[in-house]
Amino acid sequence: MPLVAILAGDGIGPEVTAEARRVLEALDLGIDFEEGLVGGAGYRGAGHPLPPATLDLAKRADGVLFGAVGDPACDALERAMRPEQAILGLRKELGLFANLRPATLFEGLEDAAALRPDVARDIDMVILRELTGDVYFGEKGLRTTGEGLRQGYDVMAYDEAEVRRIAIVGFEMAMRRKKRLHSVDKANVLETSQLWRDVVNEVATGYPEVALIHMYADNAAMQLVRHPGQFDVMVTGNMFGDILSDLASMCVGSIGMLPSAALREWAGACGLYEPIHGSAPDIAGQGKANPCAAILSAAMLLRHSLDMPEPADRIETAVAAAIAGGARTPDLGGTLSTSAMGDAVLAGLA
Ligand code: NAI
Ligand code: MG
Repeated sequence: MPLVAILAGDGIGPEVTAEARRVLEALDLGIDFEEGLVGGAGYRGAGHPLPPATLDLAKRADGVLFGAVGDPACDALERAMRPEQAILGLRKELGLFANLRPATLFEGLEDAAALRPDVARDIDMVILRELTGDVYFGEKGLRTTGEGLRQGYDVMAYDEAEVRRIAIVGFEMAMRRKKRLHSVDKANVLETSQLWRDVVNEVATGYPEVALIHMYADNAAMQLVRHPGQFDVMVTGNMFGDILSDLASMCVGSIGMLPSAALREWAGACGLYEPIHGSAPDIAGQGKANPCAAILSAAMLLRHSLDMPEPADRIETAVAAAIAGGARTPDLGGTLSTSAMGDAVLAGLA
């Protein structure tokens, strides 16, 4: 029996994760669930945002369904004890170097999109962001220049193995979608990007069916707003991906609709699945949170970690049907509670 770890965390995390679990249970897939404490809940219940028992559970599990971490009551704690450290620790311990963020416009949500409806309508893409390298992890510091000025520096570096493994995930994903891969870099000015481009081209020889397009990051930002429908899969480094994935996700609408995955392989390995939103302390405990992002994250878990693409499709279809049928939580301009939205999705499971 596959084991799914439920790490619900703080704020609305437990509320939205409960609905995702309900949907998984309704599908009767023979999954074992085990809950672990994480974030502020981990700190309060076990003295650490990522308690050893939780880390052990995540390592034993076939997939991790994560809610959100972040608790204003923990703001005064030293950095290592802050709830947000849990997600960094899990990524590192599980070797999750590939961050997937699908951006799809659901029928009926055209008015919620940040782009003009006729432009937003075409969006059906995935951004694949490298998560463990780049300028965020290079040598950094503060030094004094010859003129006596303070100077901050951060080294941007990628080795070819790091580029190759994320490129492979990108091509594998493109093969299962529309066979179009945009690789985004700044090869005109960055040595790191030149290596990135060379390695992506090497990997491309193994995927002759995939149309590979190299694009500079600044142009990619412009194209995401001008004509997002041209993109299928976009693979890029950590920093460009950080910025471009936020941009792409907001093109389609509410933060409560958007799932994500952090993977170490395209399929068949344990990954961590979570809504892109945080713990939303402003609405926690009120039954106002939109559970769709968490439910769609559960679908990604089935597809990528449990090799169950059919029930994953069923969940996504049920969410789309609920939205198309007018089901709306307050973030989408409606009045449904978190559990009533879960009911609407459950009703649509064929
Ligand atoms: P947030 O995503 O929690 O909330 C931003 C706004 O969106 C709020 O007005 C909130 O009410 C709304 N919102 C978020 N999710 C929603 C949902 N499912 N349905 C309806 N409305 C929703 O971001 P914020 O406020 O910047 O951060 C709150 C806490 O969450 C912080 O402690 C932060 O560090 C943490 N955080 C954790 C993340 C994670 O666990 N991966 C990711 C982002 C933030
Ligand atoms: Mg970000």
